[in-house]
Amino acid sequence: GTWYAGDIDRVIVTEEQIRAKTDELAKQVAADHADADSLLLVGVLKGALMFMADFARALGRYGPPVELEFMAVSSYGQGSSSSGVVRILKDLDRDITGRRVIVVEDIVDSGLTLSWLLKYLAGRGAASIEVVTLLRKPDAVRVPLDVRYVGFDIPTEFVVGYGLDYAERYRELSDVAVLKPAVYQR
Ligand code: PRP
Ligand code: MN
Ligand code: MG
Repeated sequence: GTWYAGDIDRVIVTEEQIRAKTDELAKQVAADHADADSLLLVGVLKGALMFMADFARALGRYGPPVELEFMAVSSYGQGSSSSGVVRILKDLDRDITGRRVIVVEDIVDSGLTLSWLLKYLAGRGAASIEVVTLLRKPDAVRVPLDVRYVGFDIPTEFVVGYGLDYAERYRELSDVAVLKPAVYQR
């Protein structure tokens, strides 16, 4: 589509690159969990919705059976930088005691959302908790985090698309793209 053409500076990760990387990550996770009866994927809404859907299908080709759970948290609200204050908009529906949990994120930026979420989940008796994220901004991370599976390290620029939004827009784009600063500075 051309609706957003004027808002996008450039594409940094294409749909094709996402597809190939998702397949690669799924193979790694499947190999590392070849002995598991099942994996419990916890997708972090809303940003992770696209990656969760594609990653789950990729795991379906290689891995043990998966179950899908979702949490919805928000730390950015309408702004373009993380507040560090995480709100739970939707909690887990089910008990995760004894489960092998893989948290599925679209992006680790400051790391504040994930840091908070991992502490929250740690108290719930999972057998293990690991993280897979499609994107990470290594230069923006403000807290030490153990993220086991990372798709792409990207520069510290504001990106949208493939689930990632600015003020709830641009999530439906197929690629990950850098937003023109003018869009969030106005
Ligand atoms: C975004 C993104 C990650 C988080 C990363 O979510 O989807 O969850 O921020 O930022 P951080 O590492 O600096 O905490 P957001 O709070 O915008 O909610 P959304 O997923 O509903 O867009
Ligand atoms: Mn998010
Ligand atoms: Mg957001």
